[in-house]
Amino acid sequence: MTTQTIRFYHQGSVREVAGVPATRTVLQHLREDLRCTGTKEGCAEGDCGACTVVIRELDARGELTLKAVNACIQFLPTLDGRALFTVEDLRAANGALHPVQQALVDCHGSQCGFCTPGFVMSMWALYENQPASAGLPTRDEIDAALSGNLCRCTGYRPIIDAAQKMFDYAQHPRVALDRDAIAATLRTLQRKDTFEYSAPDT
Ligand code: FES
Ligand code: FES
Repeated sequence: MTTQTIRFYHQGSVREVAGVPATRTVLQHLREDLRCTGTKEGCAEGDCGACTVVIRELDARGELTLKAVNACIQFLPTLDGRALFTVEDLRAANGALHPVQQALVDCHGSQCGFCTPGFVMSMWALYENQPASAGLPTRDEIDAALSGNLCRCTGYRPIIDAAQKMFDYAQHPRVALDRDAIAATLRTLQRKDTFEYSAPDT
C-alpha cells in the first residue's frame, strides 16, 4: 500500500514525497533516498538509539514541541505536517561544531563514534527544550534524555559530562534554531491541508 503525497520541513524547505509504501521508515528514506547518512542504523528495531532524529510539530496552542525519536521505527508518512531534523542540521555555515558536538569533543565523549550522531540528536533535543533562562537541566533530566541511547565503547560518564558542559554558555555561546520561521512553515502546511480537504458526498 502506498500513501498520498506527504509534506514535511527538512533542511530549510518543504519536502514533498509521493507514493511511498506506508511502512517505509524515516531511516530508510534518509539513508537510501536522500543519502543523508549521518543518521546511523544499529539494531533497526528501536533499541539502540543510533538512528535518533528529532521531530517538531505544532501543538494545540500553536507552540513548537520537539522530541527525539528512533528513525528506524518511525514510518515516513507520520512526518506529514511536521519538521524533521538530523545530525546534518547541526552543521554551521562556517563549519564550526554545534555546542552539543563541541562539548562531546571536549569531554572525550566519543570513541568509535557509531552511537555519536544519535547521542548528539538526543542531547540537541534537550538543549533546544531547555531555554537559556531555565538554567541547567537536572541530572535526572539528562539521564532521561539519554535513556534511549546505548554506547558500547566510550562509557556514559563523559557523555553525561558533555550534556552538562553544552549548557556552559560562557565557553560555548548558545546556538538556537529560528523557531518562528519553522513554526510559520508548519502553519502553512496545515493551512494547505485544510484547503485540500473535501468532505465525502452524503
Ligand atoms: S537503529 Fe537502533 S534504535 Fe534505530
Ligand atoms: S562511541 Fe562507540 S558505541 Fe559509543
